[in-house]
Amino acid sequence: GYYFYQYNGSQSLSYDDEQEELKSHITIRFSHVVAENTPKGLAAQKFAELVSEKTKGQVKVEIYQNGVLYSDDDEYEALQNGDIQMIAPSFSKLIDTVPEWKVLDLPFIFERETQAKAVFTGETSEQLLSMITDPKVTGLGFWSNGFKQMTSNKTALLEPDDFQGQTFRVMPGPIIAEQFRLLKANTIVMSFNEVYQVLETKKIDGQENTLSNIYSNRLYKVQQHLTISNHGYLGYAVMVNQEFWENLPDDIQKKIQQAMIETTKWNMKESVHMNAQQLQEIQKNSPIQIHYLTEQQKQKWLQTFQPLYQKVENEVGNELIKQIQFPSD
Ligand code: LMR
Repeated sequence: GYYFYQYNGSQSLSYDDEQEELKSHITIRFSHVVAENTPKGLAAQKFAELVSEKTKGQVKVEIYQNGVLYSDDDEYEALQNGDIQMIAPSFSKLIDTVPEWKVLDLPFIFERETQAKAVFTGETSEQLLSMITDPKVTGLGFWSNGFKQMTSNKTALLEPDDFQGQTFRVMPGPIIAEQFRLLKANTIVMSFNEVYQVLETKKIDGQENTLSNIYSNRLYKVQQHLTISNHGYLGYAVMVNQEFWENLPDDIQKKIQQAMIETTKWNMKESVHMNAQQLQEIQKNSPIQIHYLTEQQKQKWLQTFQPLYQKVENEVGNELIKQIQFPSD
């Protein structure tokens, strides 16, 4: 495809030189919606460095962060069209195209970081990636951000009843919406880069996100209460435009895959560290009240979410649920 290289058309090059010439002009435009100083922002940079190193500069990854190029509403379509070559959306946003991934959004399905790591790097990750059926898109791997927490401007969110009547921003995805519906809360779907402003102007009361996203987008500055609930897991599917990918020479594909594996390993460690460190920053830099969900409260949330487990089990099957809960390494 013309979109990833410009061949200068010279007739005098040998076949080998021609191949080198083609390779030397590959650019991967990678668009994402979060800040640079986040698990995804840093993983994107690490990936770009490793790709450049492994291909000796033949492949260049250009990063467009903070949604400057596309928001989470339109980045998927831009990838399908080949306007960009790589994105890494939250899997919540992909459930329309990969219905089985509903399982990943079930509240409390992830309980430990080691479990997330096993799911996103082991055999299960291969299986999850193979569920992508969109012929315009290829999945290359999963990156992590971390556990999601709840924030509100109105009350501490500890008992299921505390949510009642409040309005929360949600990212697209049926499971998260249903989770809040069971808590008798209202939701508004909104793209990530709009959240700060709607919280600031009090158009909505609260939201759920990782500490990293709450910190880097300064959401903690416009919220009164933060509950460390670890109720959901925010992970990303790293995807490339399929036609672009298939047109890459084999050796380049291998090098990119290797860079992806190394980046993912690095990202899984880095994300845990970042979220912990940024909780401390939030604590230091704002008067926000931080609450910790007790085991007893968690059990009440789980009870509230039981119908959602039932629904997803009916739709996707118990086997995948069990596999995510108890992944093999
Ligand atoms: C969100 O929309 O809140 C997140 O999915 C943003 C992100 O990419 O981490």
